Amino acid sequence: QKLKLSLEQIEKSGYEHFMLKEIFEQPKSVHDTMRGRLLVDEGVIKMAGIWDHIEKFKNANRIIIIACGTSWHAGLIGEYLIEEYARIPVEVEYASEFRYRNPIITDKDVVIAISQSGETADTMAALKLAKERGAFIYGICNVVDSSIARITDAGSYTHAGPEIGVASTKAFTAQLTILSLIALKLGKHNGNLGNADFMSLIAELDAIPKKIEDVLSSTHELVQNIAKDFVQATNFLYLGRGYNYPAALEGALKLKEISYIHAEGYPAAEMKHGPIALIDENMPIVIIAPKKGHYDKIVSNVQEIKARKGKVIAVVNRGDTQVSEMSDYVIEIPETSECFSPIIASVPLQLLAYYIAVYRGANVDQPRNLAKSVTVE
Ligand code: AGP
Repeated sequence: QKLKLSLEQIEKSGYEHFMLKEIFEQPKSVHDTMRGRLLVDEGVIKMAGIWDHIEKFKNANRIIIIACGTSWHAGLIGEYLIEEYARIPVEVEYASEFRYRNPIITDKDVVIAISQSGETADTMAALKLAKERGAFIYGICNVVDSSIARITDAGSYTHAGPEIGVASTKAFTAQLTILSLIALKLGKHNGNLGNADFMSLIAELDAIPKKIEDVLSSTHELVQNIAKDFVQATNFLYLGRGYNYPAALEGALKLKEISYIHAEGYPAAEMKHGPIALIDENMPIVIIAPKKGHYDKIVSNVQEIKARKGKVIAVVNRGDTQVSEMSDYVIEIPETSECFSPIIASVPLQLLAYYIAVYRGANVDQPRNLAKSVTVE
């Protein structure tokens, strides 16, 4: 037992939990995801899995992304990315729904499964169904040689390294990185993304690891302090728009799975269609409001929240004034292209969930009722 404990401590490299270690590994893991693929100086994205089957992607009627949980959130961002830059229609489905609803799939479909573990039963079954019906199936997995990686026709590993904490952190940002690479590569190849835009986007993507490092060092202490004020909270709302709507869903999932506080993510504009009724002085609302991406609309959402005395924790770009002035707590992050902003914005939300859970005395790495890979239905 003693030996086991000390081995575990070594594996945690001085961090109290695997989750915190994995959050802090993200500058490296995102870099590892891009290593050998993103060649900025040459202006090239190299991805053998895509390139070897480029005709399949080029001729695809649509791409269907299937996944569960956090990987499904990454898939939603993948939809925004691929539709924006490659102009290929994308649908994103929960694997568990897809497999049982007799979906229409043809040999003109490309089905991408996203799974950290590569072992999720529903994702695996959905893929098998897609394969039987003739689709080309592609895997985005973290665990090398996992079941999903083995049954797919091709794929890209995320190379985030082992993720031990049940709550996915670095695997999520690695998935977003892979999806960004795929979208930009396809867009460049099929001519929907011009060279100048491609070059500036890849330069921006290349800068993401440094920006994550910056966010970790500049927000870590602040987020710990914010977390202290919400230890007793019973509900949370997370709001974002565009690319940051799925980031809001992911922020809420992180909080609920490790702190056991009820949290919901919403596209900010949906607030007035229901959730606004929940807002009073006891409702904390995390709002993701970077400068690029529907900022003005978010400003009015914050006004509506403040008019009802909700407590706003805003994630904004450095130097922001409008949302910041109205918010109770402000977390500043560096600017990036709108499409990459969820990678950066997710980091302080991971820290927030982590510290709230730690202060509540929860078992952060192994939350109750949850398993790292869900190999049963
Ligand atoms: C993430 O924090 C969750 N533990 C969970 O939603 C997870 O993302 C889901 O079970 C999918 O797992 P996979 O990526 O290994 O397929």
